[in-house]
Amino acid sequence: MSQSIRLRVARYRPDKDTEPGWQEYDVPLREEWTVLDGLNHVKNEVDTTLSFRWSCRMGICGSCGMNVGGEPRLTCATFLSDYAPGPVDVAPLSNFPVVRDLVVDITDFMEKLPRVKPWLIRDEEQPVDEGEYLQSPEELDAYKQFSMCINCMLCYAACPVYGLEPEFIGPAAIALAERYDLDSRDHGTRQRLDVLIEQEGVYGCTFVGECTRVCPKHVDPAAAIQRYKLKAAQESVKMFLLPRALRR
Ligand code: FES
Repeated sequence: MSQSIRLRVARYRPDKDTEPGWQEYDVPLREEWTVLDGLNHVKNEVDTTLSFRWSCRMGICGSCGMNVGGEPRLTCATFLSDYAPGPVDVAPLSNFPVVRDLVVDITDFMEKLPRVKPWLIRDEEQPVDEGEYLQSPEELDAYKQFSMCINCMLCYAACPVYGLEPEFIGPAAIALAERYDLDSRDHGTRQRLDVLIEQEGVYGCTFVGECTRVCPKHVDPAAAIQRYKLKAAQESVKMFLLPRALRR
């Protein structure tokens, strides 16, 4: 007889006026199956009412993040066999409102992200018709790791500061600010720093480091946050060295 593993899945269906609770499903325990495969087995073969997000199944789109065994994980990159003999709990990501079952509402992040201007900001002094910005492989290496962020929200689910202070702009937004600040073609560092030194910015972080630990793409938001704190301190020192009339 083939082996199985029990999934304890968090259910919440506000449209049916039901209370949040847990539902158990036994799914085949196959070596190559991920937690997402188990959920898709439930959806396709057992219970079509179960709701969850996924798209690429390759750790690229960032949509399949859930709490698996109490840890934020990409379910398409998490193997069921790591939790054998089970059971394993599958719940929505922490720190976000639950829309239904395993689906969370990430509107808060989507509204915060544009504040750090996650795009290239041109040097206004440089004429537009001067051609493209050239970049060396070394300059690409400087920001490449930060460009790996897939907005999966695992770092927000793991961040105790965001859990307690939802105003905190959060790890991925700061990591994406760093991605553009480290880009040799960008001239927006000052504008981003002005946002990140606000009360909800980098100073909210207490350097727990969970964001970096859970990141499936090995981005390091905790390091970006520390660098912004250093940049902010250097800018303040520079400002106090200026005559008072020239300070901004
Ligand atoms: Fe795309 Fe998991 S389904 S990252």
